[in-house]
Amino acid sequence: MYRVILLLLVAVGGCAASICSARGASSCKKCLAVHPSCAWCFQEDFGSGAPRCDLVSSLLENKCKEKYITFPKSAAETLEKRPLSSKGSGGETQEITQISPQRIRLRLRPDASQVFSVQVRQVEDYPVDIYYLMDLSYSMKDDLANIQSLGTTLSEKMRSVTSNLRIGFGAFVDKPMSPFMYISPPEVIRNPCFEFQTTCLPTFGYQHVLALTDEVKKFNEEVQRQKISRNRDSPEGGFDAVMQATVCGEKIGWRNESSHLLIFTTDAKTHIALDGRIAGIVNPNDGSCHLDDSNSYSATKTQDYPSLGLLTEKLSEKNIHLVFAVTDSVQDLYKRYSELIPGTTVGTLSQDSSNVIQLIIDSYEKIRSKVELEVRDLPEELSLLFNATCGKNEVIQGLKSCSGLKIGDTASFSFDVKARGCPKEKEKTFTIKPVGFKDTLTLNVIFECGCDCELEEDPNSEKCNHGNGTLSCGICQCNPGWLGPHCECSEQGYSPSQQDRCSPKEGSSICSRRGECICGQCVCHSSDFGKVWGQFCECDDFSCLRFKGEMCSGHGQCNCGDCVCDSDWTGDYCNCTTRTDSCLSSTGLLCSGWGQCVCGKCECTQPGSYGVTCEKCPTCPDACTIKKGCVECKYFNRGPWNDDTSCNRICRDEIKPVEDLVDSGKNAVNCTYKDDQDCVVRFQYHEDASGKSILYVIEKPECPQGPDILVVLMSVMGAILLLGLVGLLIWKLLITIHDRREFAKFEEERSKAKWDTAHNPLYKGATSTFTNITFRGNAE
Ligand SMILES: *[C@@H]1O[C@H](CO)[C@@H](O)[C@H](O)[C@H]1NC(C)=O
Ligand SMILES: *[C@@H]1O[C@H](CO)[C@@H](O)[C@H](O)[C@H]1NC(C)=O
Ligand SMILES: *[C@@H]1O[C@H](CO)[C@@H](O)[C@H](O)[C@H]1NC(C)=O
Ligand SMILES: *[C@@H]1O[C@H](CO)[C@@H](O)[C@H](O)[C@H]1NC(C)=O
Ligand SMILES: *[C@@H]1O[C@H](CO)[C@@H](O)[C@H](O)[C@H]1NC(C)=O
Repeated sequence: MYRVILLLLVAVGGCAASICSARGASSCKKCLAVHPSCAWCFQEDFGSGAPRCDLVSSLLENKCKEKYITFPKSAAETLEKRPLSSKGSGGETQEITQISPQRIRLRLRPDASQVFSVQVRQVEDYPVDIYYLMDLSYSMKDDLANIQSLGTTLSEKMRSVTSNLRIGFGAFVDKPMSPFMYISPPEVIRNPCFEFQTTCLPTFGYQHVLALTDEVKKFNEEVQRQKISRNRDSPEGGFDAVMQATVCGEKIGWRNESSHLLIFTTDAKTHIALDGRIAGIVNPNDGSCHLDDSNSYSATKTQDYPSLGLLTEKLSEKNIHLVFAVTDSVQDLYKRYSELIPGTTVGTLSQDSSNVIQLIIDSYEKIRSKVELEVRDLPEELSLLFNATCGKNEVIQGLKSCSGLKIGDTASFSFDVKARGCPKEKEKTFTIKPVGFKDTLTLNVIFECGCDCELEEDPNSEKCNHGNGTLSCGICQCNPGWLGPHCECSEQGYSPSQQDRCSPKEGSSICSRRGECICGQCVCHSSDFGKVWGQFCECDDFSCLRFKGEMCSGHGQCNCGDCVCDSDWTGDYCNCTTRTDSCLSSTGLLCSGWGQCVCGKCECTQPGSYGVTCEKCPTCPDACTIKKGCVECKYFNRGPWNDDTSCNRICRDEIKPVEDLVDSGKNAVNCTYKDDQDCVVRFQYHEDASGKSILYVIEKPECPQGPDILVVLMSVMGAILLLGLVGLLIWKLLITIHDRREFAKFEEERSKAKWDTAHNPLYKGATSTFTNITFRGNAE
């Protein structure tokens, strides 16, 4: 580990002299392979033991004249660069350019890399060829009725996309052989619908009906003339038809300068390679055209169905976009085929094909919204890294496709081409091409592996001990049996004292037991595993750490026992990638924000999270919480991510402002949150079938209304007044009640008070009685 770091430090620290000279490269060619910064001095009298393989600056310092220095440089040179076209149709003759530049020449030294970029644009109003390939098996009966005027409608609808449309038509059923077709009773061979008491066409493989044409009427007529047929098993032979429609370019009439859409409609599964064996067909599909004079597929009974690999190859070669327009019941199957065949799309066909026009338009738009590059014939000595810039100035690392483009947008890609070795041929060519485009970028790579001075070598030169060696690039390459800088030492002239110079210290093994000491120099044994080198043969290229059986995991060079990792890789074993794109989850966050990216793999740290990108976590903050940040930065331009880079990096979602949310099915979730101003923002997070995420945001958040001063004042006053009034009323009520009671009591008492006629104690009668004591009665 420490040694690796040390080596790296040395490399980075500018003491790169050691990089070039340490290996003791013994020839110019070997020197160039050591490191892209190494140069070779071929000046003959360059002596004094200074290494001939060194940095240019060190060589000059050591008095090597500049004209004797071999130092091929890596370079990129643009040979052809027509500008991108903006419009497709118009002048038929004018050439349309969708990729620029078109030709580049690269000079690469071993281990050196060059960066360059290309632009790709989907030009507007590009000509379109649509070939409609229809399943005419019995279940498609109702569909046939529905597409009778397909041509007219299609050309009307496509007019907004292109002014230059051609359409063609072909039909297929299946191989006319048992067990794919009915053979008994004998009548069914001529009329497979015999048992339904109707007639239909005998089973056929593939029939090319109408070559691509701009005459819409002719298309309608041909479609109306079609009759249904019937076969026996449920899968159909559609891939046979796709192959023929692809490779029979001349008969079909695909134009050079146009988008090619092959619409494949069916409601059933399809036969694939090797199914033919059921009917005894053992010849594989040869991927060439077999349409006879009547435009029917003549090899249907002799060749097997094509394999997906062959289909992919041919579709890509002919720049044809295959669109699977299939019914719901088989859609999953064709989606899986589509994943295996790049450049294909899948659309859902209704049971009676009534939506096929919309499907074609949607597919076309989908195709045109994506630019994906493919690399053809890449020499194995080269490695290629991509960065994509789609639309805005946002660079996506490691990607060679852009999606979500509008027609007329330009996508640009940068490449890093690196030569990992030296092939036998000095020059190799490969191409880069957007899938489905005619345009290509051709790269011509010249491997700068040799030295020009080698051309002037002098065999059996007088300067190498009178003809005992070859003088090449300033040094003697000795003939067998001779050694030394000038081949002055013969193997036979063995002297024990010279042995001392072959071991690092006295008593230690000579040449690390991996070489022989000849003329005081170690001549290292060659090994089946690799090279042994160094002054004492102490270094080799094969005893480095291995991972999964590969030295330095296949991502580094072994340098004297230590792995020197390629860029993007680290670790003792070079098995730890520093790239993080494999950790990006679909939300655009590294490990969904719930883990760490370690060596290109997510280590989920959030308790409860799992999955390749820690995307699964039932107990974590929900999608709403994550997407809230995106709504804030992308729609309202605020929030913690509202600087250009993090918003674009994290939020790959499309924002669509809406009046109200609608039901978008089960891949949608409604979210609500309160922003800083206490406004309630409502949005819906929706992922469509292709995994694209869309955020529907209610245009205007619901904000609480600010209080109205007048209303508050009035209500406060009103309240006080009311309270006062109520108080007064209550008081009045109480008083009244009290009064009433008192009065009632008084009344009661008054009624009780019968005024007594009793004597007034103070009253004295008005009569006075006096007693006449002298009076005695009469009776006496
Ligand atoms: C179409 O391209 C092929 C191959 O590049 C060429 O041979 C042919 O002449 C071209 N046809 C037209 C009409 O340009
Ligand atoms: C891709 O982007 C990364 C980071 O921005 C950069 O280091 C690298 O050189 C780029 N590669 C190419 C081929 O442009
Ligand atoms: C090689 O060198 C020896 C002695 O130095 C000389 O005698 C001989 O002629 C040389 N061999 C050739 C093939 O020139
Ligand atoms: C790298 O190799 C070492 C040794 O085999 C192993 O322990 C480690 O897990 C590997 N790392 C990765 C990321 O595969
Ligand atoms: C989201 O809200 C809309 C409108 O209120 C509703 O129709 C839809 O069913 C809701 N979706 C979910 C997943 O709750």
